[in-house]
Amino acid sequence: MYDRRAQAGLPKSLYRRQVAKMAKANRREPEEFVKEWYSKKAKGEWLRLQKDPYHQIEHLVTTHFLKKYLPNRGLVLDAGGGPGRYAIGFAKAGYNVVLLDLVPEMLKLAQRKAKRTGANRNIKQFLQGSIEDLSRFQDGTFDAVMCLGGPLNHLLSQLQRETAAKELVRVAKKKAPIFVSVISRLGLLETILTVFPHEMCYVKHHWEVGDYIPGLQGEGFTAAHWFLPEELRGLFEKQNVEVLEMAGLEGLSSHHVKETNKLYKDQERWRMWIEIILGTCTHPSVIGNTEHFLLVARKRG
Ligand SMILES: C[S@@+](CC[C@H](N)C(=O)[O-])C[C@H]1O[C@@H](n2cnc3c(N)ncnc32)[C@H](O)[C@@H]1O
Repeated sequence: MYDRRAQAGLPKSLYRRQVAKMAKANRREPEEFVKEWYSKKAKGEWLRLQKDPYHQIEHLVTTHFLKKYLPNRGLVLDAGGGPGRYAIGFAKAGYNVVLLDLVPEMLKLAQRKAKRTGANRNIKQFLQGSIEDLSRFQDGTFDAVMCLGGPLNHLLSQLQRETAAKELVRVAKKKAPIFVSVISRLGLLETILTVFPHEMCYVKHHWEVGDYIPGLQGEGFTAAHWFLPEELRGLFEKQNVEVLEMAGLEGLSSHHVKETNKLYKDQERWRMWIEIILGTCTHPSVIGNTEHFLLVARKRG
């Protein structure tokens, strides 16, 4: 709930603007916020995983697990794939890929990037749609399914998240790997400390409720649900899968942006640190304590 007392220190004009935003936020569906936010973020999302060594770690650790479990070839669904950082990478490596995203601007950028890199030959379809409804695909269509970087976070009700998990598993072939990564609830609390300390008045809400609506609990992101590791595991264990591994994607570097970027300048020490990150990212005390974490599952035969 919105905390009036927390706003007490605000100047009158700012307070009035805040109240107006709250009223507007209350009238909107979460999906509207999500579409609006990401329609302006295609370029930013393309750069997100490469913009500095700290952010490259999420990509590096995710790719480590993708390579570990992907079959050598086949048809891969990148669901909520945004501008296609993973889809293009794996298409270039020879996989056939279907890229699906909620937001047309993401798909447009992905098409341009894929064309430029020659990856478009292997990206079979660019489709607009939601992970909640994959009915355009038959059961068992894909050799692997990815849903990376938090598309699942943007489904605000438990029923929606369960429907999406069911769909992602349904369209995978028997024994196919399924990769899902999300924004962590515990990681988010640390992000409030390090990046949004002025939003500390909402920290208890984030922890206890785990949902975020811009305008109601601060600013700076779109509507989201923050996951606990056991929650994501529970969501998929209800489906026809075996959970193989979970990993904290920024590992022990999580939230240490400055220190991590500085370390990169010394390539020998960087190599040693990455080895430690890969060695420790599956430790139970690391998984939830990072900005993003990954679940790897296998559909039962
Ligand atoms: C943070 S980006 C991640 C993009 C990409 N998977 C990556 O890891 O780089 C989240 C993406 O999820 C998409 N998205 C959000 N809700 C979705 C939904 N219900 N169905 C499909 N895509 C969704 C957004 O449009 C956005 O492109």
